[in-house]
Amino acid sequence: MAGDSRERDRGKRLLVLGAGPAQLGLLAAARTRELHVIAVDRDPSAPGFRYADRRAIVSTEDESGIERLASAERVDGLIAPGIDWPVAISARVAERLGLPHPITPETATLSTSKLRQRERFAERGVQQPAYEICAGPREATQAAGRIGFPCVIKAPDRQGQRGLTLVRTASEVGEAVRVALDASRIATLLIEEHVAGREVTVNAFSSDGHFFPLTVTDRLTASLPAFGVALTHVWPSELEPAEIGAAVEAAAAAAAAVGIEHGPSYTQVLVGPEGARVGELAARLGGGHDAELCRAALGVDLNAAALSAALGEEVPAAALAPVARVGGACVRFLVPPVGELREVTGIEEAFALEGIRGIRIYRRPGHRFGEFRRGADRAGAILAVGDSREQALERAARAEGMIRFETDVEALV
Ligand SMILES: Nc1ncnc2c1ncn2[C@@H]1O[C@H](COP(=O)(O)OP(=O)(O)OP(=O)(O)O)[C@@H](O)[C@H]1O
Ligand SMILES: [Mg+2]
Repeated sequence: MAGDSRERDRGKRLLVLGAGPAQLGLLAAARTRELHVIAVDRDPSAPGFRYADRRAIVSTEDESGIERLASAERVDGLIAPGIDWPVAISARVAERLGLPHPITPETATLSTSKLRQRERFAERGVQQPAYEICAGPREATQAAGRIGFPCVIKAPDRQGQRGLTLVRTASEVGEAVRVALDASRIATLLIEEHVAGREVTVNAFSSDGHFFPLTVTDRLTASLPAFGVALTHVWPSELEPAEIGAAVEAAAAAAAAVGIEHGPSYTQVLVGPEGARVGELAARLGGGHDAELCRAALGVDLNAAALSAALGEEVPAAALAPVARVGGACVRFLVPPVGELREVTGIEEAFALEGIRGIRIYRRPGHRFGEFRRGADRAGAILAVGDSREQALERAARAEGMIRFETDVEALV
């Protein structure tokens, strides 16, 4: 019963790495469980801080700072719910402090390095795009010649489209290499075959080595130059049931290959004429309100399950049993105009529309929106449900049309 679980939770202490848009859902869920939450983010205006009992203005990449904090705060667990690099930090710090944790440091490292992950998938026969590892422009030009155009050049240890470029011709290789090496932490880059076709995200949760697939959503992305930036996640996927099945199998194989036996996984699967291939797997919740979408669509509370896993609690299979609640659901991200944000209007009216389950605005007045290039340039998101995916999409679009980001555009010099 809710009262009993609140009693049990009182006093449990959790360190959450990140208080940005990608962690909002988990932080809100932690608040309803009445956990004592210490949230870490280097940005003092991070929107998730409002759900935390304690805010620590520390970078989510500052491993020794996080370890000191976790130790001083005597936390019962750590979690990095929405961003990759801190997933490995959480696993290592938990191990050093003897705390329970859903994944080992080795699994976390495989999940946060695109390069190590590609190598592991290759060893285990998990289908993925053709790739090569390069250190500089000469090698990259030769590799691109072998892989063919278009291809994708990326930094092996970043996310949020940092260091990521779609390369259409040989003349674009040099700049893409520069961008990737600039972002890369290890002076190395990946060149991949560009898989044309559809892309789905498989949101899943593993419990005692059993992989429970939950929402499989179509990932609809922005046009160039914002290559790969998700604008909408929509459920159910439009793919044929057999293709969805193949995507789920690919995600399960990917999770097994990196060693995920407990906790959430988020796998991007590219579905082209040659079948399902794994774009990337992350050992965490999706950073685009995927857990909230799953709850609205299937009644499974992934945020609650992830909290339990981070605290070393059992997650019973019954908590992961999907029951379709609606015919369709989507998360639609908001694209802002360029300029300094003055105010956001129309939120209440949009929220009052039928089927709108949530609206998140990521930025406060004073924030400067630049050109739309990456996930971090998104200004907010709408969660909508409907009798079908089309109805959910229509409702989200209507709500989006009511929300206005008023900006002061600076004079061009
Ligand atoms: N080889 C590829 N073939 C086709 N599309 C790709 C490929 N690599 C990347 N993309 C597109 O770019 C998106 C982001 O790619 P990737 O996950 O590698 O970068 P990221 O920086 O980690 O982004 P994110 O944080 O959104 O996961 C993918 O979801 C996909 O839409
Ligand atoms: Mg990624």
